[in-house]
Amino acid sequence: MTAPLLKLTNINKSFGPIDVLIDISLEVNAGEVLCLLGDNGAGKSTLIKILSGVHKATSGTVGMRGKIVDFNSPRDAGDHGIATVHQFGGTFPLMSIGRSFFVGEEPKKGWGPFKILDRKRANDIAVKAVRELGITRIDDGDRLVGGLSGGERQALAIARAVHFGASVLILDEPTAALGVKEAAHVLRIVLQARQRGIAVIFITHNVIHALTVGDHFAVLIKGAKAADFRKGERTREEITDLMAGGEHMAELEAEIAAYMASHDGHPPPVAE
Ligand SMILES: Nc1ncnc2c1ncn2[C@@H]1O[C@H](COP(=O)(O)OP(=O)(O)OP(=O)(O)O)[C@@H](O)[C@H]1O
Ligand SMILES: [Mg+2]
Repeated sequence: MTAPLLKLTNINKSFGPIDVLIDISLEVNAGEVLCLLGDNGAGKSTLIKILSGVHKATSGTVGMRGKIVDFNSPRDAGDHGIATVHQFGGTFPLMSIGRSFFVGEEPKKGWGPFKILDRKRANDIAVKAVRELGITRIDDGDRLVGGLSGGERQALAIARAVHFGASVLILDEPTAALGVKEAAHVLRIVLQARQRGIAVIFITHNVIHALTVGDHFAVLIKGAKAADFRKGERTREEITDLMAGGEHMAELEAEIAAYMASHDGHPPPVAE
C-alpha cells in the first residue's frame, strides 16, 4: 500500500493555556474530498492553518507521501503543493483578475531588474484557467476581483491552485456566504479538482454540501476528532446530530416543523 498523500499524526495545538486541537490523526488521499465538519470554534480553521504553514503544531507530525514535513511559512506549504483558500479574504478586491492570479508567481518578460508582468499573457492564462472550470461569464482579465461575485472569486482562487499544480487544495467554508446557485457552482468545481487527482479538504457547516462532494468525513468537536467515516456510512441526520455534539437535531427540526405547521407558520416560543 502506498502512503497517503497527507497524514496527520497526533496533532495538538494550544494557544497559551487553551487547548484548541487535541490529538488529531487524519489521512487525506489524492483524488478524494475530505470534508471537515464541526460547529463554530471546533478547531477546523486552526487545523488547516497548521497544514498551510500559518501555525505550528504544539506537538504531532504532518507527513506527505510518507515523509515528515515541517512548514515554516505559508510559502513553504505552497512549495510543497498545498494551496489554501482561507475562510476570510484571500483575494485582492482592487487587483485585476490577471494580476491577482499571478501574485507571488509573476510570469516574467525581459531580463534582470527589468522583468515586468506581461499583462496580456497573465490575463489570457487567468481567464482560460477560470473558464476551464466552467465559469464562462469571466472573459476579461482586466476586470477587478472586487467586481466578481462570491462564487466567481472562489472559482478564481481554485483555478489558481489547480493551475499552479497544487496537490492538496484546502477550502475553508467556500460556500458559506454564497447563494444556492453559486454554491452549486463551487461544489461542481470541487469535484473537477478531485477528478484531476487533487486531494481536497473541504470545510463546511453545511451537511448537504458535504454529502454532495465528500468521499471521507471527519467531525471535530471541541478540538477533538469525534468521528471519521466514509461516504454512505452515516445518514444526514446522524451527521447533523454529531456536529451538534450528539444532540438529536433531526428530532428537534421535526418538532419545530410540526409546531409551525399547526401554528400558522409561527416558530415555537423560546424557553426561558
Ligand atoms: N490565535 C489564536 N489565539 C487564541 N485562540 C485562538 C486563536 N485562533 C483560534 N483560537 C481559538 O481556537 C478555537 C478554534 O477556533 P477555529 O477558528 O479553529 O474554529 P473553527 O472550527 O474554524 O470555527 P468556525 O466554524 O466558526 O470557523 C476557538 O475557541 C478560537 O477562539
Ligand atoms: Mg473557521
